Amino acid sequence: MGANGPTNPLVWLVAIICTIIAVAVVVIGITVFIGYIVIHPRVPVISVTNAHLDLLRNDYAGLLQTQLTIVVTAKNGNAKAHATFSDITFNVSYNGQDIAVLVANPFEVPKNSSKDLNYLVQSSSIPLSPDQMEQVDDAWKRNEIQFDFKGAARTQWRVGPLGSVKFLCRLDCDLKFRPMNGTYIPSRCTSKSK
Ligand SMILES: *[C@@H]1O[C@H](CO)[C@@H](O)[C@H](O)[C@H]1NC(C)=O
Ligand SMILES: *[C@@H]1O[C@H](CO)[C@@H](O)[C@H](O)[C@H]1NC(C)=O
Ligand SMILES: *[C@@H]1O[C@H](CO)[C@@H](O)[C@H](O)[C@H]1NC(C)=O
Repeated sequence: MGANGPTNPLVWLVAIICTIIAVAVVVIGITVFIGYIVIHPRVPVISVTNAHLDLLRNDYAGLLQTQLTIVVTAKNGNAKAHATFSDITFNVSYNGQDIAVLVANPFEVPKNSSKDLNYLVQSSSIPLSPDQMEQVDDAWKRNEIQFDFKGAARTQWRVGPLGSVKFLCRLDCDLKFRPMNGTYIPSRCTSKSK
């Protein structure tokens, strides 16, 4: 380019515009990256914070009757924005046997605070396979039973009229109890966000 004579002004113009665009892209990229670093650790989370096995009864016909209390906490660690939680569903199952589907209406959690959802899961006459019956007997013997708790929720911050991007929180935990006295054996059960 420009081996002889002055460079064409049009080339200069194009070069300047390209430089401006490149700088803008870098600045936007850095802003988004910093925003992500600052905000991401405070993405709203859902976790099981407490639970109790109120009832566990199995009979010789292979029917299981159970009642569980589960407390799910929705936490908004963001100090600057309200968070909304929506599309909330949790599935409770035992060894592949569905016990209950829990849902919640959308709700809002103020800045830097949390909200507890209290669930009472009552199930009667869940038919178990012979294998599952054996596993329940075994759970009594070991004094430890495990339920699967899977859930998901969408969360969003209320920023201006539009709101932020939506995050999907997913939970996949084992809820363990002592069948003899119903005590919950606490374990880490907190959502991962995407
Ligand atoms: C958020 O809440 C915690 C206690 O729940 C408090 O210690 C902390 O100072 C609060 N942060 C802000 C920025 O309000
Ligand atoms: C819960 O189970 C239903 C079907 O039983 C399924 O469609 C849904 O995706 C499950 N939800 C979660 C969060 O695993
Ligand atoms: C329930 O039983 C377990 C183990 O047998 C014991 O560690 C726990 O303290 C008991 N909890 C209550 C509330 O009695």
